[in-house]
Amino acid sequence: MQTVPHEGYGETWAKIILFGEHSVVYGHPALALPLHSLRMRARVRPVVGDSTLEGLGYHGSLKDSGGAFASVRRAIEVALDYAGAPGVSVAVETSSDFPPERGLGSSAASAGAVIRAILNAMDVSADGQRLFELTQQAERIAHGRPSGLDAVATAARGPIHFHSGRMRLVRMRLDAPIVVADSGVHGSTREAVSGVRVRYEHDHEGIGRILVGLGELARAAVRDVRVGDAHALGNKMNRAQVLLARLGVSDSRLDALTRAARQAGALGAKLTGGGLGGCVIAVAGSLADAARIRVALREAGAVRTWVHAPETTEVSV
Ligand code: MEV
Repeated sequence: MQTVPHEGYGETWAKIILFGEHSVVYGHPALALPLHSLRMRARVRPVVGDSTLEGLGYHGSLKDSGGAFASVRRAIEVALDYAGAPGVSVAVETSSDFPPERGLGSSAASAGAVIRAILNAMDVSADGQRLFELTQQAERIAHGRPSGLDAVATAARGPIHFHSGRMRLVRMRLDAPIVVADSGVHGSTREAVSGVRVRYEHDHEGIGRILVGLGELARAAVRDVRVGDAHALGNKMNRAQVLLARLGVSDSRLDALTRAARQAGALGAKLTGGGLGGCVIAVAGSLADAARIRVALREAGAVRTWVHAPETTEVSV
């Protein structure tokens, strides 16, 4: 059995969605931020015999990895096909600074990193658009009908405005820290997205209005990050959280965390990503406020927090 000629490496990052989760699936705009300090790394080595996967909570033969790893298997397959080496064996190893199934983009980030590592091992180059398309093929297995926001945001150089499959980088003047808190509950984006679809089919008008409202907040928030208006941004986050709860993708724990953040002085707070578990984000007026918000979030049950300040992400375990 053939294998790759030499080792390869690829990396991507976690992301947070500031505005537009779920509504982006229906073609409305979204605003997202890559967290460059929270990395997903993939290494690929030549191997004799069957392909293997180590990481993402699995250790063993790729073919025995089961349904939970179908999207990583797809990422490996599409990368090898693209490199003109279908079916060759690889040993894939991933390591990540952030947890999976918490709305931080782990599935897109792992697919993107693995694809980059394989192409690197095969000495094949691909432009951003091609890497996006390959990642989307794995994301379709993970999420069904992904908007593409996660695949773009987990590989972006900076904050992005994403609309109808197109992205543009946004110059961000916001110097307000953003606290990210993990509720500790696994979220399933696939289930959250399909729940919204079912509700939309039953109540086209009502749910449609919520989706439009979320899209409008995302559009208007671009100005806030451009001019650095943290108060306006926080206010929109609070409004987005109300709409996301009405959409049925928040839960009591996420509601409690957003409340705790506001009570501790956050300018605004909302869930981020698919919801029904996962993470919340809160915008703070200063680093001192962020420290207080972080403590309050831990006391309210968050299992882990990070503070994203412009170009730094301080990690607390
Ligand atoms: C998940 O991170 C974001 C969603 O909007 C799904 C998608 O964009 O495909 C919930």
